[in-house]
Amino acid sequence: MTITTLDSLSAKPLLDWYDRHHRDLPWRVSPGMAARGVKPDPYRVWLSEVMLQQTTVQAVKPYFAKFLERWPEVTDLAAAENDEVMAAWAGLGYYARARNLKKCAEAVAKDHRGVFPDTETGLKSLPGIGDYTAAAVAAIAFNRQAAVMDGNVERVISRLYAIEAPLPGAKPVMKDKVTLLTPANRPGDFAQAMMDLGATICTPKRPACSLCPFRGSCQALKLCDPELFPVKTAKKEKPVRQGAAFIAVTGDGEILLRRRAESGLLGGMTEVPTTAWTARLDGETSVTAAPFAAAWQACGTVIHVFTHFELRLSIWRAAIVQKLEADDGWWEPVTNLEAQALPTVMKKAIAAAIPLAFKTSRA
Ligand code: ADE
Repeated sequence: MTITTLDSLSAKPLLDWYDRHHRDLPWRVSPGMAARGVKPDPYRVWLSEVMLQQTTVQAVKPYFAKFLERWPEVTDLAAAENDEVMAAWAGLGYYARARNLKKCAEAVAKDHRGVFPDTETGLKSLPGIGDYTAAAVAAIAFNRQAAVMDGNVERVISRLYAIEAPLPGAKPVMKDKVTLLTPANRPGDFAQAMMDLGATICTPKRPACSLCPFRGSCQALKLCDPELFPVKTAKKEKPVRQGAAFIAVTGDGEILLRRRAESGLLGGMTEVPTTAWTARLDGETSVTAAPFAAAWQACGTVIHVFTHFELRLSIWRAAIVQKLEADDGWWEPVTNLEAQALPTVMKKAIAAAIPLAFKTSRA
């Protein structure tokens, strides 16, 4: 093995490693396919990159397949109903991504004749495309020399250069390093190789340094403890909020649902009636906050962790004899819940009250 100094560090060992060890992913044009002349489809690259933000490759795969089957081209997605897109996204989380996805598809269809802009700047002018997505699509779909930074890349680069400054403040320093290392030739493969390296070798715990193409240059490995990097500012504990959710079920198997306000957390998604989610631990979790009087029975507590807080929801269930006209909601057959835009927290709440809710609708 050659020992390289950081000054002479190049992307070559990583690209060689990628040629042999890249992950086969459904949205990816592998080096072998590229050699046979296959070109990446910007729509697939963009869709996968939006889905992969804050979400694992395994979780994204079935959603990616479903979206492509339903909306094979960006113009199909642009023409889809908003509610259909939200329902197809349900369970993937961070729902602002789905709203922006739709807006972006509409802008590409309307303002760019269905063709994605091929530069970072052009991509950034589209709704919902920020620095990360613009760089990733520019590099992967259009082979532009853009520096792509995500959590995996931050970990690799922080170890390679033993960057002592803590995240998130160190991001600009890390980006400078990635910019210097990104090659003019194969920048898209370089970006994907950095992500694959971070996901499979340079892992947060117990990295497999002996298999790493950068092992001769890695400064964290020289210091004998790669796990010390990236240095992070100590996280504050998440605040707790609480509330109650009410699952009203009729004798013929319908459940009361409603739509959340368009803006804010889980905006535009479907929910069961709930109280406000309050930071006060003496907040309303009891049956007195139910939307109407019924024989409400306690079904335990569901805990769901959002980015900025932990939610503890008391779950109440009632069998409804006389179906009331729901002024801000509708009655939906339990067998049709899978088709609703229900976020994971709501699926958990419903499952706590009706354990077979999601199993029956899939059958
Ligand atoms: N995570 C986000 N984007 C990715 C990509 N293109 N390849 C692998 N992992 C990723």
